[in-house]
Amino acid sequence: PQILIVGAPGAGKGTQSSNLAEEYGIEHVTTGDALRANKDVETEHGTPREYMEDGELVPDEVVNEIVQEALESADGYVLDGYPRNESQVEYLEGITELDVVLYLDVPEEELVNRLTGRRVDPETGENYHTEYDMPADEEVRDRLVQRDDDTEDTVKERLRVFEENTEPVIEHYEDHAGFVRIDGEQSPDEVWSEIKGAVDERV
Ligand code: AP5
Ligand code: ZN
Repeated sequence: PQILIVGAPGAGKGTQSSNLAEEYGIEHVTTGDALRANKDVETEHGTPREYMEDGELVPDEVVNEIVQEALESADGYVLDGYPRNESQVEYLEGITELDVVLYLDVPEEELVNRLTGRRVDPETGENYHTEYDMPADEEVRDRLVQRDDDTEDTVKERLRVFEENTEPVIEHYEDHAGFVRIDGEQSPDEVWSEIKGAVDERV
């Protein structure tokens, strides 16, 4: 299947995309991870780092190219973190078709808590949370890091950028065939079972 997952920063896109990739044997295409892996690569618009550390969008030309290349080589995918504005929506429509659009709906106070408490294992990329999801293994616990953009000020700016640029994207997809709103405030397992049910019904 060709799946798009949309939602605010911290809605659980990365967490659920990993489940989807594993369950359906598809590629997890994520612009956030791709950009983090190439943070210091110079483009004609500067480096991704300059935008990401402030919570701003990286220029469309840079991101569009990443997505086009990744989708071309994927046999089934879950696309996470893109499109984030209407110009990216148009670009995406020119290169692929979507079977399912999953919207993870989570209220803003919950997003701030999830993001500022998130810790990442640099070796596996696995996400944890300081309040309710720490690894049992002490070695793993000791190597966890906070993402550069998960500080309180940058989180606020990311949420503002989401409201301004990405909420219209979600409105755009509401009328799209295969659109499903998922209550993303439930536990990760409950969210996953709702997602799996919705995808199985549509592919
Ligand atoms: P990106 O990496 O895409 O970040 P984001 O959209 O802000 O989303 P996150 O990765 O923070 O959250 P998520 O929804 O994946 O949630 P997660 O599963 O991790 O983008 C980063 C930056 O890159 C952007 O700001 C921009 O600069 C740039 N960029 C990326 N794409 C771009 C584009 N298309 N155009 C331009 N620029 C672009 O979960 C979050 C936390 O919550 C974790 O701790 C997790 O354990 C926990 N959690 C997950 N699910 C649940 C649950 N159900 N209940 C409780 N806790 C949960
Ligand atoms: Zn993510």
